[in-house]
Amino acid sequence: MTLTASFFNSPSAPGFILAAAIGAVTAAVIYHFFRRTKARFAQLVSERDTKEKLIEEMRKLEKFRRDFISNLTHEIRTPLTGILGAVDLLEDGENLSDSDRKAMLAILKNESVRLDKLAQDILALARIEHTSDEAKRAFAVCNLADVLKNVFTLMKPKAATAGVGLVLLKNENVKAACDAALIEEALLNLMENALKYSGSRTIELSLEATGGRAKITVADNGVGIEKKHLPRLFERFYRVDKARSREKGGTGLGLAIVKHIAQLHGGEVSVASSPGEGCVFSIII
Ligand SMILES: Nc1ncnc2c1ncn2[C@@H]1O[C@H](COP(=O)(O)OP(=O)(O)O)[C@@H](O)[C@H]1O
Ligand SMILES: [Mg+2]
Repeated sequence: MTLTASFFNSPSAPGFILAAAIGAVTAAVIYHFFRRTKARFAQLVSERDTKEKLIEEMRKLEKFRRDFISNLTHEIRTPLTGILGAVDLLEDGENLSDSDRKAMLAILKNESVRLDKLAQDILALARIEHTSDEAKRAFAVCNLADVLKNVFTLMKPKAATAGVGLVLLKNENVKAACDAALIEEALLNLMENALKYSGSRTIELSLEATGGRAKITVADNGVGIEKKHLPRLFERFYRVDKARSREKGGTGLGLAIVKHIAQLHGGEVSVASSPGEGCVFSIII
């Protein structure tokens, strides 16, 4: 009798086999249970992470909404205060001189224009942000050189009045799928800023192809912007020089609009600047 046969014939063998089978099944069940628990645990952790991420996103959105409303309220109230003050003075101002009266009317006009510009900019931002993917896909291919020529022609008289020289430095034949009116709006914003804030005697506009994309730059050699402002420059309502922006009828939304237009075209806008050395704003789409 071999050792195996004697083992199987021994009285304890079936019990042992049963115990081994039970052990194996138990191990398999435990292993299976362990794997399922591990998978479930991983799922719960990822669900918790997703939930935490969602909550974090919602908190950010809520903060953004509150900041936006409080900024907007401030932007509306500032001109309104001017308007109400001027109306009060005109109302009980029999003794107002003609020049005072004219000054009050000028305040009424300027502040109303500012409110109107604010409404236009808010609407423009909302429109750009809510452009559907379908509308983006339907962008026609346009010649950006034509857009630059248009902007140049539109800005030339304004620049000339301000004694500023406009230079169309480079205007390569670059085509891109885009909303030409929006690209024009972005460039007008950058050029108006250069005219209003830089104090530069010349503004250079250029377009070139780079790495299969179009790069448009608006450069001035004016006062420039301190480094600390650059990270927040494209935020809504952010101004470097609040008093100057107010004096020039700014809304603080121009660069936010430029950023959204660039992003709408799958691109971006950036700025390089240091005080006293001017600014170079670049849009790549
Ligand atoms: N070319 C520039 N040179 C100097 N400062 C600039 C220039 N462009 C923009 N800025 C600064 O950036 C701020 C934000 O610009 P923007 O968003 O267009 O707002 P707004 O023109 O309504 O003030 C401006 O208030 C101005 O202080
Ligand atoms: Mg502006």
